[in-house]
Amino acid sequence: MTQALDEIKIGGLGASRKRVEDDRFIRGRGNYTDDITLPGMLHMEILRSPLAHARIRSIDASKAWEIPGVHLVLTGDMMATRNLAWMPTLSYDTQAVLATDKVRFQGQEVACVIADDPYIAKDACEAIEIDYEPLPVIVNPTQAQADGAPVIRDDKENQPDNVIFDWEVGDRAGTDAAFEQADVVSKLKLHYPRSHPSPIECCGSIADFNRATSKLTVYMTTQAPHIIRAAVALVAELPEHMIRIVSPDIGGGFGNKVPVYPGYVCSILASILLERPVKWIEDKTGNLISTGFARDVYLHGEMALRKDGKILGVRMHTESDHGAFFSDAQPSKFKIGLMHSAFAAYDIPAAHLTARGTYSNKAPGGVAYRCSFRVTEAMFFQERMMQAAASDLGMDQADFRRMNFVHDDDFPHRTPFGFLTDSGQYAKCLDVGLRAVGYEDFRRKQAEARKKGRLLGLGISTMTEPLGAGNSREYDILGIKMFDSAELKIHMTGKAILRTGAKTQGQGHETTWAQIVAHELGLPAEDVVVEEGDTDTAPFGMGTYASRSTPVAGAAVAMVSRKIRAKARKLAAHLLEVSEEDVEWELGRFYVRSAPDRGVTIQECAMAAYSNMPDGMEPGLENTAYYDPPNLTWPFAVYIVTVEVDPATGVWDVLNMVAVDDCGVRINPMIVEGQIMGGLTEAYAMANMQFITFDAEGNCIGANYMDYLLPSAWETPGFEMHSEVVTPCPHHPIGAKGIGECAAVGGPAAFVNAVIDALDGTGVRNIDMPLLPDRVWEAVTQRRDVSGAPPVRTD
Ligand code: CDP
Repeated sequence: MTQALDEIKIGGLGASRKRVEDDRFIRGRGNYTDDITLPGMLHMEILRSPLAHARIRSIDASKAWEIPGVHLVLTGDMMATRNLAWMPTLSYDTQAVLATDKVRFQGQEVACVIADDPYIAKDACEAIEIDYEPLPVIVNPTQAQADGAPVIRDDKENQPDNVIFDWEVGDRAGTDAAFEQADVVSKLKLHYPRSHPSPIECCGSIADFNRATSKLTVYMTTQAPHIIRAAVALVAELPEHMIRIVSPDIGGGFGNKVPVYPGYVCSILASILLERPVKWIEDKTGNLISTGFARDVYLHGEMALRKDGKILGVRMHTESDHGAFFSDAQPSKFKIGLMHSAFAAYDIPAAHLTARGTYSNKAPGGVAYRCSFRVTEAMFFQERMMQAAASDLGMDQADFRRMNFVHDDDFPHRTPFGFLTDSGQYAKCLDVGLRAVGYEDFRRKQAEARKKGRLLGLGISTMTEPLGAGNSREYDILGIKMFDSAELKIHMTGKAILRTGAKTQGQGHETTWAQIVAHELGLPAEDVVVEEGDTDTAPFGMGTYASRSTPVAGAAVAMVSRKIRAKARKLAAHLLEVSEEDVEWELGRFYVRSAPDRGVTIQECAMAAYSNMPDGMEPGLENTAYYDPPNLTWPFAVYIVTVEVDPATGVWDVLNMVAVDDCGVRINPMIVEGQIMGGLTEAYAMANMQFITFDAEGNCIGANYMDYLLPSAWETPGFEMHSEVVTPCPHHPIGAKGIGECAAVGGPAAFVNAVIDALDGTGVRNIDMPLLPDRVWEAVTQRRDVSGAPPVRTD
């Protein structure tokens, strides 16, 4: 008779276990960077450039030095004497730490003041006098490539213009041949605007250099502590073992906290110079105006179609605006991230992508905001193109997608750009979504409504996203291979501590990783404490972004648990006085195959590891696993939205939104739903209300929460989520695929497609996001596409 534990009761795989981290968060007992106060701590503020492009004639900081309470004023020239005026970026470019020669975007860091408190530091920043000579400004790729355009990066040798890269991937000749055979060629041009991850907690750091021990400890808001440790070692030329990076609780990251920011570098240098802890906490405007933007890509596409609806080939061209420094955090061999993951869900014989990146007078862009390295732009383009193609063919939107899907038995499937997708049931997800939204019925209602002048629309978007970089063969950042790790220590009483190389920022790792241990070892999840983010204790890992944690660190948790189980089996054989081959496992317990009642629990094995191990066995029950995934995981989703557009005002309301997500095995269904709900909310915000852009002078418009709205429960529509399609990942140890970003990646196109569908018959093919009422109204009344590309007029 089995005595296996009930997995759901012990909080294992599939349990909707409440988030353990919320106990401290809802009591206000989280420990964020700004909560940390160290003895003797000073405060740093940054002076930012008011101009987007200007030569610096002079900087006079003498008045700032005179203000009582000021300890240090850092300028670019002082940084230069320590070879720290510039730093390398994660994309093999350089970035100014503090400007020396020119300022290249509004909000660029020009000087820092370190003082007794932040108010003195801020006042002292205002006392610094800078003489600027304004220069012409560039805010889009067309301006960047125009004849006679000013060269933004004149600091670089061999940089005669503003082009950063020209890159291509795919089969050019095969794609050309496909277009020659096409009955119909569908075209689309759009701009995915700059957007900002805008975590509630801004960036910040507290550097604490101890001269007596030579140890530098930095508490900071980073999603990737080990990468920061390596960067500090290389940039500041400090020994790596004397650097400790601690990433405490993080109030949202969304990609914003992956890059290395000048504020981190300056606080570290200030602490070394002053031998006191130095805290820098960025304010909201600083965060919105100067830290890691996302997107800002112009997409041009063409689709070659047979008249029965079969897609023969796709051409894509992107022009991406990276701002003043090329600092995208992405695998080094892909210049435009994983943009070429587009069309992975569709069976398309040939595709070709050309990509050009340019500098502009904007803050560095290109962070993967809740996205696996540009997958959001790829999926947005894909699903907007699918909608345009279906309507050019006069085909039903759902039928067109279904007929071109990769079939369930075609996996692993090689995509037109060369990725290998793992598994999926695409048509089933679509059917679940169509049923849930009442597709046929809605189309009938839509036709009726149109006769009365009411504009109803339905938008479909599908998404498949490559999640879980590495494998290390193909994926690296700055040459550091992408894999991840977990270390598990079982104490003698059967309680455990687990550490991983990932870093949660609200995703709930403290809850879900313990569930994987419970699944593998039968230890109740509540007996496993999870710790991440301290480089002195956590095993090396690449951190958390691009929804890579479950595919990589989560897999490492399963693998290290299996290593522990293998040793526990030897201990069990010893305790049961049988050979190891005669020992069987069921959840939480080893037993003798021929006498199932004779058994020992995993907790008894743990005690034996410290008190009664066999001769010659190393004591203790702990291990580490480094996991290098064989492939990415490929979750799939279908999002369907229905809307009503008011032609008189351009306001559009969501009537219904259905989400069908297949992320393989769900570790914690409640957390997965939370991730989807959050992603859909961000997708809705991007499509509807988040307006941040630039005028002709390079002023950042919308760097406040009046223009760049974060939707509250009031604005956010309801979402209907479906979880009935589960296609386990064939190569992940527990069959899980990533989920964190899927809805933010696939959601925006569903909203935009719905509004464009509502305008069917007006000739409008595109309105750039955000679909603000004035843009929709202009499209409806003028019967033309509306671009949102900068510069915008502000009069
Ligand atoms: O890397 P990140 O944590 O942002 O994304 P993720 O790996 O997709 O995981 C987000 C959260 O959802 C984590 O708490 C995961 O453990 C959980 N999750 C899950 O319960 N089941 C899955 N199949 C995928 C993620």
